[in-house]
Amino acid sequence: MALVDKIFRVVGMADAVTSIKTYYGSNDIVGRILSALKDAGHDVENLTAETLNLADQIHGGGLNSTITLAELAGVSKGSHVLDAGCGVGCGARYLAHHFNCQVEAVDLTPEFVEAAAQLNTLCGLQDAITVSQGSVTDLRFEDGCFDLVWSQNVTMNVEDKTSMFSEVFRVLKPGGRFTFSHAANGPNGEPYYPLGWAADPSFSFMETPEIILELLDTAGFKIVENQTEGRTPGSSRGRSSSEMDGVAIIMGADSALRRANGVRSGEEGRIVGMMVVAERPQ
Ligand SMILES: C[S@@+](CC[C@H](N)C(=O)[O-])C[C@H]1O[C@@H](n2cnc3c(N)ncnc32)[C@H](O)[C@@H]1O
Repeated sequence: MALVDKIFRVVGMADAVTSIKTYYGSNDIVGRILSALKDAGHDVENLTAETLNLADQIHGGGLNSTITLAELAGVSKGSHVLDAGCGVGCGARYLAHHFNCQVEAVDLTPEFVEAAAQLNTLCGLQDAITVSQGSVTDLRFEDGCFDLVWSQNVTMNVEDKTSMFSEVFRVLKPGGRFTFSHAANGPNGEPYYPLGWAADPSFSFMETPEIILELLDTAGFKIVENQTEGRTPGSSRGRSSSEMDGVAIIMGADSALRRANGVRSGEEGRIVGMMVVAERPQ
């Protein structure tokens, strides 16, 4: 690649990172989650991870998508896990609470990192989960230290998937698993924006399912599971009656439009949902 193209690419990536942080970040996220739980009749003075998981999911399919991904990955008790793009920590808390996992959680958006750490403390999981700000394309962890890398609906925001996948491969133990959910480009053209992860195409990097699998292969992964189930894998279970709309609570006012665009894009074959489990070979 010519030097000038490289410079444009780096500047473009920096712009995308700024847009992503702006799109997700807002004030008083913890306050809004606690108010929503309180209004729904939950005891917010004695919070558990299970209660928080009813309001902290920032992805299509909500908590049931998290449950489905964990089943698909075959999470083992006591695993050392990296939650890559943790948002406010829904997956990290789910894995720490249900599987006694020790979790490192990383996210790009400072407000999410702060909220995730506060929520972990409020439900007593502060020793099981460490949260830090950073990018999944440049991980600060040692080689071969995780049993599982978990990433829910993050890859659509990651332009440089080659770096993300090679970093994930590097930090996994041989035999370790990378499990993620992703919204890929469908066969029928561009999706409608805004979507849950982007206001416009300038920071949405969906790719086709074929390209996602090819990039994993290039990074050295063996595909263990690849489920494609429409717009939001796992959503076929339906949302439980006690679950609240985490996207609306955390992401605010136009969440209904983002959701409607996601549904319409899925129905028209513009978005294809993926859940993948890939293994770093022994
Ligand atoms: C749709 S949200 C999903 C959050 C969380 N995984 C969940 O399911 O609730 C996407 C998340 O990816 C994070 N993100 C996007 N690009 C990232 C990157 N390069 N490194 C780390 N986090 C990133 C965003 O800050 C946001 O928290």
